[in-house]
Amino acid sequence: MIEILPSILSADFANLAEEMRMVEEAGATMLHVDVMDGHFVPNITIGPPVIQCIHKATSLPLDVHLMISQPERYLRHFIDAGADLISVQVESTPHVDRAIQFIKEENRKAGVVLNPATPLAMVEEVLEIVDHVLVMSVNPGFGGQKFIDNSLDKISRLKEMIEEAELDCRIEVDGGIDRENLREVLDAGAEMIVVGSHIFHAPDPAEVLREMLSIAREFEREKEVGSSAGY
Ligand code: DX5
Ligand code: ZN
Repeated sequence: MIEILPSILSADFANLAEEMRMVEEAGATMLHVDVMDGHFVPNITIGPPVIQCIHKATSLPLDVHLMISQPERYLRHFIDAGADLISVQVESTPHVDRAIQFIKEENRKAGVVLNPATPLAMVEEVLEIVDHVLVMSVNPGFGGQKFIDNSLDKISRLKEMIEEAELDCRIEVDGGIDRENLREVLDAGAEMIVVGSHIFHAPDPAEVLREMLSIAREFEREKEVGSSAGY
């Protein structure tokens, strides 16, 4: 199932419980949580104590995107805080495999993240063991940036790799996604779509999310019809 994941980075942090309730009521099935350390990326956001509060304030699963150096040092804390999915940037540690193993041993979903300039080859050796691969379609660090167009080709090539090897691995995409380019991202093969500013900075965030979900459902229906017609 295609999911639209509101990224709370662009939400009103002083009003987070209400913002989360609003997107849940509008149909969100998971939330995206950005963790930045001011070292791996030039911005600082939140850590385990805040995630623990978020976890208590919502019943939605939390998809935690770690943009921090040496993430393996902190995995235990994010798991204890309530992360359901944890994604590690492949550029942030030489021990990506160890980090994935750890997350999986703790029965959480494990993902790897690729920056725009990082080639797909960087995930080839772990593709079999991860639950998802997150393709960054902006340079990580800030919300509200412009979608980098060649991410579409990268997603398509990743999709081919996954299908060829018959793996059970979902593709996530994060950065610069809006109602205009959503369809292209879906056509390329992404299933978990992170959306920050386009939802939370809109005058009516719930309506924007509902519209994006209906684009996703329409895409799924078309695919269903196409496959039953033998295309
Ligand atoms: C960027 C973060 C994103 C961010 C996306 O480093 O990883 O999750 O919230 O925000 P938008 O959708 O505004 O590009
Ligand atoms: Zn993110």
